[in-house]
Formats: sequence, structure tokens, C-alpha cells
Amino acid sequence: MSEKSKVLVIGGTGYLGKFIVEAAAKAGHPTTILVREATLSNPAKSNIIQNFKNLGVNFLIGDLYDHESLVKGIKQVDVVISLVSENQLPDQDKIIAAIKEVGNVKRFFPSEFGNDVDRVHAVEPAKSGFEIKAKIRRAVEAAGIPYTYVSSNSFAGYYLTTLSQLGATAPPRDKVVILGDGNPKSVFNKEDDIATYTINAVDDPRTLNKILYIRPPLNTYSFNDLVSLWEKKIGKTLERIYVSEEQLLKNIQVAATTINNGTEKQDSGDPRVWFMLKRN
Ligand SMILES: NC(=O)c1ccc[n+]([C@@H]2O[C@H](COP(=O)([O-])OP(=O)(O)OC[C@H]3O[C@@H](n4cnc5c(N)ncnc54)[C@H](OP(=O)(O)O)[C@@H]3O)[C@@H](O)[C@H]2O)c1
Repeated sequence: MSEKSKVLVIGGTGYLGKFIVEAAAKAGHPTTILVREATLSNPAKSNIIQNFKNLGVNFLIGDLYDHESLVKGIKQVDVVISLVSENQLPDQDKIIAAIKEVGNVKRFFPSEFGNDVDRVHAVEPAKSGFEIKAKIRRAVEAAGIPYTYVSSNSFAGYYLTTLSQLGATAPPRDKVVILGDGNPKSVFNKEDDIATYTINAVDDPRTLNKILYIRPPLNTYSFNDLVSLWEKKIGKTLERIYVSEEQLLKNIQVAATTINNGTEKQDSGDPRVWFMLKRN
């Protein structure tokens, strides 16, 4: 069997990053993370760091905004996986510049892990986020960097643990708020499955310069389906509160205006829309 590619992960201590790093190391890829010094001494990250140490992950002290550290890390590997946060998506141009300068990278995975951003239709503020990811795709292609874009759809751990109810820490037991009629279907993938598929793609020629869609049919549910499954599990029927599409779009506008005016109030618009705006 041929040797496994050496992998550099940027953003490896983040929400999805920790799954990807673990999957890479467990699959036998020599794995390095570019990590800021402050992260290594952050108590909130100590379990992640210890797990990486146990798995034999290499640590390279660096920063997305430190070109030399990027070049140093990239020189040592074959594959670069970016898992930077939504706020830093445009700054991936720094990774692209470093990969171009080094010239040895066999595959780049930009921070995507959601919808296929060339095919999605969205309203603001999500629209701008998707456009940034699409712009990074174009920059990767223009630089002639071999790539894989992972379209992982929705993270199960992110959305299903609360059934996407604002401020909840557990799924609802009395009432559930459903956006729209709850019938469109969506794909929910467990984070460690997303990591496994991503790492399997690293050395797979079929995924070179392609979009990897992670869309298992059995992980595809409407919101109404999910509520029914939850009701069956807890043996109780929930009150379903539907927010019409028209109302939701109005709520988004109200919340966006409030934020733009700097007069942020918790009661502006629909709370879940508020949450979406805050995240972006
Ligand atoms: N499909 C879905 O349901 C879904 C859900 C959420 C996210 N996503 C996507 O998944 C991707 C990753 O998002 P995430 O939520 O996992 O990100 P995240 O948790 O915010 O992690 C960001 C990572 O970047 C690191 N970082 C921050 N500043 C840095 C710097 N200057 N230099 C180097 N590293 C730096 C952070 O380090 P620290 O550990 O020190 O903070 C962290 O490891 C994004 O593209 C996002 O859109 C998709």
C-alpha cells in the first residue's frame, strides 16, 4: 500500500477541526496542526490538545496571519485542510498565497463543510457567507491548486441536539417552533462521519478537483420527520408552532435593520433569526 499523505490542519482545535484531526491521525496520516501559542495554554482546549498528543499529532506554532508559519507548515506536508471559522473565511486567501508559494501541495480542502455554495439560494445574512466561500473556490481554481470541496450538509451535533430551538440546551419537550411548513428535506451528518469521509477523500483520486457530497439517503429528513422521530422517542406529542415563510422573511429584515442601526434588542424579530444573525 502506498504511503499516506502528510496532512496539515489549520483550525484543528475548532468545532469541526477536532473531529478531522482525530480522523486523520487514526487513519495513519502523519498529521500536523497549525496552532496559536495561546490555544495550547487555553484550559478550555486542554482536553482536545491532550487527545491530539495521545494520537501522536504534531504541533506547529503559528497563525493564519503569520505568512512564515504558514509556509513552514505547508512545506512539510502534501495536503492542507482549512477549518477556519466563518469570520475568517475571506482570510483563506493567505493560505492560498502560501500554498502557491510553496508549490508542493497535492490537495487543498478549504473551509466549506456545508452547502454546495455554487448551487445554493439564500437570503442575507447567509447569502454573503456562501458568496465568500464561492469566492475562495474561484481563487483556489485560479491559482491552479488541486482541491476537494466537501459539501457535508448540516452537522447533526450542531442542530439536532436542540432541534434548532433558540437558546435551548436540549430538544424541546412541550412546544417546538418550525420554520416554514417543515416539509423540505435536509441532510444531517454526524461530525465524526463527516471527518471520516473527508479523510478518506484525501488520497482518493476520484475526489481530485471535485465536490464531495455527503448525502446518505437515510440521513435525509424533513423538520416534521425529525419532530415525529423525537415524539416517538419520548412518547409525547409536542405542540408544533409554524412560522410562515413570509413571516420569517419579515423577521429577518427586522432583525437585520435593528442590528445595522446598532439598537440590538433581544426581542427584535424572530429569536431564531436573531440567533442566525448573531452567528454571522
Ligand atoms: N454545515 C454545518 O452545519 C456547519 C456548522 C458549523 C460550521 N460549519 C462550517 O465548518 C467550518 C469550520 O467551522 P467551525 O465552527 O468548526 O470553526 P470554529 O469552531 O470557529 O474553529 C475555528 C478554528 O480556527 C482557529 N483559529 C482562529 N483564529 C486563528 C488564527 N489567527 N490562526 C490560526 N487558527 C486560528 C481556532 O483556534 P482556537 O481553537 O484557538 O479558537 C479554531 O481552531 C466553517 O466553514 C463553517 O462554515 C458548518
